[in-house]
Amino acid sequence: MPTATAAAQTRAPALLAEGISKAFMSGHQRTQVLDGLTLSLDAGELTLISGPSGCGKSTLLAILSGLQKVDSGRVRALGSELGQLDLRALERFRLQHTGFVFQGFNLFPALSAFEQVELPLNHMGLSRNEARRRAQQSLEEVGLAHRMRLRPSELSGGEKQRVAIARALAKEPELLFADEPTSALDAANGQMIIDILHRIARTHGTTVLCVSHDPRLVVHADRVLAMEDGRILSDQRPPTPAAQDNGIPS
Ligand SMILES: Nc1ncnc2c1ncn2[C@@H]1O[C@H](COP(=O)(O)OP(=O)(O)O)[C@@H](O)[C@H]1O
Ligand SMILES: [Mg+2]
Repeated sequence: MPTATAAAQTRAPALLAEGISKAFMSGHQRTQVLDGLTLSLDAGELTLISGPSGCGKSTLLAILSGLQKVDSGRVRALGSELGQLDLRALERFRLQHTGFVFQGFNLFPALSAFEQVELPLNHMGLSRNEARRRAQQSLEEVGLAHRMRLRPSELSGGEKQRVAIARALAKEPELLFADEPTSALDAANGQMIIDILHRIARTHGTTVLCVSHDPRLVVHADRVLAMEDGRILSDQRPPTPAAQDNGIPS
């Protein structure tokens, strides 16, 4: 990243999408998924995107993380115009600056929790020692230090998702994307996962963008964007959980 503009970039939004559109063709049928969508995200916050199934949430995450191209509009992430990067540069951008957490955990059945977290770090060119240090630290941060020798089949759903979060976190990404990370979990585990993501945003200054249609998660986010018809319909900051819980038993 160029240093001359670093000061200006700290004030710029971490992620900015302006008027992005995306359509898919299937046969003769054209589906306009994103339709001039604009959004701006700041570092250090957990933003939740809600919206009905099929409204384009996963497509939006894929575009904002540089995995898919827009038809029109532009995406500026951490000072880079993603549309101007070639495939190699995009791949490097994703590897160095983004982390992803999915609904289905995406863990390798044969690897221990520690190995799952360590593996991508080796691809980033970190030394063996640094990779191990980060893997250990990230697993501690999600409360799994005592389970790190176990494989996915020996872990609960909530624990598996915490391994996946540790794997993303260990890369020390500026941008962390989570696509329905709590959908496969019960309420208590879902809440724990969203709280971990929220804490990561606050303590690491990470820009966390989480997609979910679970209304129970809303109060755990700094900001909630409702998506419909390919655009952001509303942009709200829910009251903090502390204010909500204030003396009122649920
Ligand atoms: N690669 C693709 N090719 C064709 N259609 C797609 C593709 N990806 C997504 N779609 C369509 O785009 C719409 C939005 O999908 P998606 O972004 O997965 O929505 P959501 O995550 O909100 O459920 C759906 O109608 C889906 O079928
Ligand atoms: Mg989806």
